[in-house]
This record gives sequence, structure tokens and C-alpha cells, in this order.
Amino acid sequence: MPVVPVDLAGRPYEVRVAPGLLADVGNQCAPLLRKAIVPVVTDANVQAAWGERIDASLRAAGFEPHWKVLPAGEATKSWQHLADVVDWLLALEIERKDHVLALGGGVIGDLVGFAASMLKRGCRFIQLPTTLLAQVDSSVGGKTAINTPAGKNLVGAFHQPALVLADPLALETLPRRELGAGYAEVVKYGLLGDGAFFAWCENHGPALMDGDQALREQAIAASVAAKARIVAQDEFETTGLRALLNLGHTFGHALEAETGFSDRLLHGEGVALGMVLAARYSARRGLIDPAEAERVAAHLRAVGLRTELHELGLTADGAGLVAHMLHDKKMDSGTLPFILLRGVGEAYLARDVALDDVAAFLDEQV
Ligand SMILES: NC(=O)c1ccc[n+]([C@@H]2O[C@H](COP(=O)([O-])OP(=O)(O)OC[C@H]3O[C@@H](n4cnc5c(N)ncnc54)[C@H](O)[C@@H]3O)[C@@H](O)[C@H]2O)c1
Ligand SMILES: [Zn+2]
Repeated sequence: MPVVPVDLAGRPYEVRVAPGLLADVGNQCAPLLRKAIVPVVTDANVQAAWGERIDASLRAAGFEPHWKVLPAGEATKSWQHLADVVDWLLALEIERKDHVLALGGGVIGDLVGFAASMLKRGCRFIQLPTTLLAQVDSSVGGKTAINTPAGKNLVGAFHQPALVLADPLALETLPRRELGAGYAEVVKYGLLGDGAFFAWCENHGPALMDGDQALREQAIAASVAAKARIVAQDEFETTGLRALLNLGHTFGHALEAETGFSDRLLHGEGVALGMVLAARYSARRGLIDPAEAERVAAHLRAVGLRTELHELGLTADGAGLVAHMLHDKKMDSGTLPFILLRGVGEAYLARDVALDDVAAFLDEQV
């Protein structure tokens, strides 16, 4: 079984990647759990697909699971549900050394991680990610957050999990569209730092999307290893290294904002298009060959992701899209850092990007 260590000083943890981990969750977590009572937070879709198996595994290992089932969807990352989860954990008398299980996608992981960061000034939690996006990205690295009326992920904390169990079998119940959105984040790791992995994606992405378990396991393990390497070197995003993980995200967030953070465009779908735009913008600045940018677009299109702005049916022009970027939390004294490409597998942080130039570029894309 691939086990990826996340080497953080004083708080190392493991990401285990293997089929069958969820059905074995009781045994996997047993060495960490101190009490019979185990709080499990999930959403209604995941509860329906996986609840019984998780419950049975925990009981077979001698535990008494207590369930909190929240509504599925981004709106659950709210003050209201955060307060609800924290009050529920307090009522269960969860202590600082106890572990809360977060079973679900990035929504549940972000919310439960944030709740754990503040419960009694910090209790422990275990990530059981059930979407590809959560397995390759959000469950690893310790960023937690909720959304507020002012924007997405504006309130949160760094709080690392104690263990992550990534089971590719979880993806068998995941809708294909969600799988594609998560796959965009897999491609991101190749594009930002590993040209050979990008080529691997080109060769194996379509079969992975069509259900090949072994390929899914390999992609998850490689992605987690890439993220773990970056997070271990720049846990709090201070050196610029961790910022590379935002490749495609500045363009993507503007598109998500323009489509109202709705199911018109899932986060990972916005990242896919955002990576294409970052690649084309890099070509426009003469950093890469235009053919390299089109290679990025061709691969994402080959797995069914949208790669052209006109496919979104937007009414905003370049200036309208750039206006959304001004609210980006990475804005720093009037400038917005962009992640650009010097090649496939070689991203860097550019601090000299003029937003009116980006607006002109976006106008050319429509
Ligand atoms: N903390 C981080 O570093 C980080 C990184 C990237 C994204 N995020 C956050 O992650 C969130 C998006 O996560 P997501 O894409 O996993 O979305 P999600 O949690 O909303 O899950 C997507 C959908 O799939 C359903 N689902 C989940 N697992 C399933 C399964 N195995 N079978 C059937 N249905 C299943 C969910 O109920 C939901 O409807 C966003 O809020 C984003 O801000 C956080
Ligand atoms: Zn992302």
C-alpha cells in the first residue's frame, strides 16, 4: 500500500492510499482512537453511499460511532454549520486528544478541519476523503475554511489532520462530472512541477476517468506525494512555493465568481479552464511555445473538461472577469501574483502581471 508521509516538524502524518481503506476504517484508525465514542461528520450523499460500511467497520473494531449528517453542497461551509458541528462535538464531550472523522469531499473536510482547529483550541481529526479532489488536494496540507457572504474561504485556519485515508474505491459512487473536476487538480501537479507526470496523465487520463482502479491509485499517490513535498517545505505559504498550487486558480476563481459559484462550473472545472488560460497567457508573454499551451488544452479536452471561454456562455468581458480578481485573497497591496509557465512542468510565481493586460488577453479569448 502506498503510504505518503507528510513531514511537518513535530506533527508528521501519513496519507495512506489503497482500495478497501474505507471498509477497514475501524482497524485503520484504531491505534489513534482513545475512546469508544467516535464522532463522524459527513454529508447526506456520502452517508447514503458509504454510511453503512463505515458504521459497520467502526463497530466491528469496538467503537461506537456518532453521526452528524449535513446537507451536501458548498453552502454547508457556513458559520451556521460550523457552529452546529462545534456545539455537537462539545455535547459529545470531545477532548483535545480525541479525533473527529471527516467523511466526504472538500466541503466536509474544510468544515470539520476548521471546527477541529477551534474545539478547545484544537482537537485532532482524521480525513476520509471521498472525492478525487479531496483525495489529491483538500484533505492534505491543513488548509481549512468556511465561506461567508464576503466570499469563499475567507475565514479559516491552518490545522493539519492526524491521518488521511484515500480509498480509490470511494470514487466508484462519485458522479463522473465530480471525478473530472478532481482530475483537473491531478493534472495541475504535472503542469506545475513534473513534466513526466503530465505526460503520464496524457497517456493514462482517459482510462483513469473510465474506471481503471490501478491508475486511480497511482494518480492519487503521485498527487499526494507532490503536494506533501510542497507543504513540508512551505506549510504556511510564506516562501512562494506553496503558491504554485494556485496554478489556474486565479483565472478559475474569476470564472467561478462570474458563474455565481454554482453548478454551472465546478471548482475543478474552473481550474481546468484556468490552467489553459494561464498556459495561453504564458505563451502570449513569450514564456512558452503556443503549441505547449495547446497541448495542455488538448489533454483536458480529451478527458471531457471544457477548455474554451465560449463554452461557459459568459456575458462578462475581460474587464468584468478581472474585476472578480480584485477580490482575490492573494491580492497584495494592489498587485496580484499569477502562476505562469516556463514550460510544461515548470511553473513560477510572477509578480509583474498587469491586470489590464490580463483583461486584454481575456477579450482575445472569447
Ligand atoms: N483545503 C484545501 O486545501 C482545499 C483545496 C481544494 C479545494 N478545497 C475546497 O473543497 C471544496 C470542494 O470539494 P469537493 O470537490 O470534494 O466537493 P464536495 O465536498 O461538495 O463534493 C462534491 C459532491 O460529491 C458528493 N460526494 C462526495 N463523495 C462522494 C462519493 N464517494 N460518492 C458519491 N457522492 C459523493 C458530495 O455530496 C457533493 O455533492 C471547496 O469548498 C473548496 O474550497 C479545499
Ligand atoms: Zn483547487
